[in-house]
Amino acid sequence: MTRILAIESSCDETAVAITEDGKLLCNVISSQVPVHAKYGGVMPEIASRLHCENIDVCLKEALEQAKLGFEDMDAIAVTRGPGLIGCLHIGLQAAKTIAVLYNKPLIPVHHLCGHIYANEYAGEFKFPMLCVVVSGGNTELVLMKDHMDFEVIGETKDDAVGECYDKVARVLGFPYPGGLPIDQHSKLGEHTYNLPKPLAHDDSYDFSYSGLKTSVINLANQLQMKGEAIRVDDMAKSFQDVAIGMIVEKATRAAKEFNVKQVVLAGGVSANSYLREQMKLALEGTSVDLIIPPLWCTTDNAAMVAKVAERLYKEGVFAPLSLGVDPNWKISDYKKFD
Ligand code: KG4
Repeated sequence: MTRILAIESSCDETAVAITEDGKLLCNVISSQVPVHAKYGGVMPEIASRLHCENIDVCLKEALEQAKLGFEDMDAIAVTRGPGLIGCLHIGLQAAKTIAVLYNKPLIPVHHLCGHIYANEYAGEFKFPMLCVVVSGGNTELVLMKDHMDFEVIGETKDDAVGECYDKVARVLGFPYPGGLPIDQHSKLGEHTYNLPKPLAHDDSYDFSYSGLKTSVINLANQLQMKGEAIRVDDMAKSFQDVAIGMIVEKATRAAKEFNVKQVVLAGGVSANSYLREQMKLALEGTSVDLIIPPLWCTTDNAAMVAKVAERLYKEGVFAPLSLGVDPNWKISDYKKFD
């Protein structure tokens, strides 16, 4: 029997999960979203401090829910990157402390591997597989020919799609995080604003969101100068069509080109209802399977970290206690942490 205790603290959720032979025994999440909402975005220094305050409470709660102690674990897993440097440090220091005190192996986990493997709670992977990784910090198309084999075939050249949602939401007067309000308001509007689609028609699988964000901001400013109000629902719909349309178009093309058996959605933006619906429509009538993660799997959590850690544990991928965080860790380097 293998028991893993996993910690996630890369952004604004402090999370601890415990698995036993793949079965999730507990999944504790302390979200800082209400605090950061006051500032319209994640304040890194505040996020780090809150992780400091919350990590003990989450660890205690997880052990209580699982009715186990640290001594019952076989390994301690932790998100080592990518993420906010101060936030990552808190999780790593907690994990190292437990590892050294209880003499347990330490397993460093890549945050985006976690988002992808969260889908294993929803279904079995089939390879080759295309992962559509869309979150507040990342927008990537990742090709997997086998388990733990990651090839980034396309990525954003500037902003991440979630970051773009959050900035546009601010212009439209929605609270942080802006993804859900835009998603909801888009259902009430019409696609009436003409917005650019950068890199939409090139041969690559790359994305660009900064131009889209800037044109929404410019349009809002121009209307304001003319004393006109922006039609919020119409802008939400126009923006969502373009922002998600680019992802669906490139993911569908990649699925075909690489002859994949399955597509999985991963990361915070995979909660988007239009992305889910459009991806389903795009793959309908093909032999390609689609895994849409349950909503609890889309936000940051430690259950996904434990899923990856189980595989690394079997391979004996353990880190020395001198391990540091890597805010820019590349997914293909998930086993490199010197
Ligand atoms: O994966 P995540 O929790 O954070 C990172 O690890 O980056 O993703 C958070 C992002 C935020 O930008 C949020 O606005 C976005 O996911 N999001 C959505 C939706 N729900 C959350 N974006 C679009 N539509 C949604 N329904």
